[in-house]
Amino acid sequence: MRTSRGAAVAVILTVGATLAACSNGSSGGTGSNNTNTGQKLAGSGAFTYVTGKDNSGIWAPLAAKWNASHPTMKVTIKQQSDQADQQLSDLEQHFQAKDANYDVVTVDVIWTAEFAAKGWVVPLTGANKLDTSKMLSGPVKAATYAGTLYAAPWASDGGILFYRKDQVKTPPKTWNDIINDCKGKTSPTIQGGKEGCYAGQFAKYEGLTVNAAEAINAAGGQIVKSDGKTPNVDTPQAANGLNFLVNGFKQGYIPKEAIGFQETQSLNAFDAGQLMFMRNWPYAYAIANNAPPNKGSKVAGKFGIAPLPGPNGHGASSLGGHNLAISKYSKHQASGLAFVKWLEEPAQQRFILTKGTLAPVLSSLYQDKSLYKQFPYLPTLYKSIQSAVPRPVTPFYPAVTEAIETNAYAALQGQKSTQQALKDMQAAIKSATGA
Ligand code: GLC
Repeated sequence: MRTSRGAAVAVILTVGATLAACSNGSSGGTGSNNTNTGQKLAGSGAFTYVTGKDNSGIWAPLAAKWNASHPTMKVTIKQQSDQADQQLSDLEQHFQAKDANYDVVTVDVIWTAEFAAKGWVVPLTGANKLDTSKMLSGPVKAATYAGTLYAAPWASDGGILFYRKDQVKTPPKTWNDIINDCKGKTSPTIQGGKEGCYAGQFAKYEGLTVNAAEAINAAGGQIVKSDGKTPNVDTPQAANGLNFLVNGFKQGYIPKEAIGFQETQSLNAFDAGQLMFMRNWPYAYAIANNAPPNKGSKVAGKFGIAPLPGPNGHGASSLGGHNLAISKYSKHQASGLAFVKWLEEPAQQRFILTKGTLAPVLSSLYQDKSLYKQFPYLPTLYKSIQSAVPRPVTPFYPAVTEAIETNAYAALQGQKSTQQALKDMQAAIKSATGA
């Protein structure tokens, strides 16, 4: 489903006929606001789990399975929109209102610092410790703030290239390969069912930060220094990177409609056979292949997956993904923690891969060769995640990403030169982080 950029769409999905109406209705303890003591979380009963729109169809079956074996701690799934910025503003509003009904929430890797610094989510330490030893290190780091784990790594994300293997023999390794593969075959506009060359996510929202950062990193640039906050983006390397996207719009190897693309719109265009190459996350694999109940993709079975290209060889993904955290205001934190731990079990981690082609956080699943026949891209995805570059880690992330999006967008639209956009981005990041 496409989501408009207007007000956040919130849908309540009620699972199971016997499900308690909502977490208010259940009995239980008082919850615990412990942030430092490591004291055991308290409060048991029905609870709500809040997550972005379930494009992958995983939550109804997961909730039904949990509810069948936990009749006194049933979960209700609340779905938000499928757009990262809208999900964040919905969570911020509910935390600010101290809403006890947002018991367990999905935390995009870039929100950990803000939620932890504001004390909205409880640490998973001491008596509530989560064993992360079998998990990929990037997602564990992304769930950690100031040395403390505040969220349970759940689904990782690495950017990958979807390419039409019925149109190119070998996937492009470099940006020039992309441009050459498209020459004479694609159109600068996809209106009227024409095929464009390459698209990622270029609307003005979090996805643009991801795509701009990937282009900049691939060209040897960086957005911030290794301290995670000092801007270092006003460089020739960063300009080369951003220019891959800027020139794409100018020269037509990125179709002009892509300036409005978020993940869903780019996937819709790819599914309609309107893109030769698409940058997206692994969830798109199941949908583009018409994994039930998806249907309507015209490219099922006709595409392959490759690492993201860069100027001189493979580029680097931005680290994406979603973790699970327990709200400080929940009155059913013990149930929430039990649910979170259950979701980390190998059976559930395997399910998110096999059902929705999400990227599990358990390392062992990427080594399981029995999965390679159905998911041949797993080693590529593993490399993408292992080499992914985190976005800036700061409690002021919303202002930092705003600085990146606004200026990258102005450059893509030709309203600012690349140099000016990077200069302005540098200054705006500095004023956001105070670095
Ligand atoms: C995906 C990623 C997330 C990122 C978002 C941007 O959902 O997992 O980390 O922020 O896309 O649109």
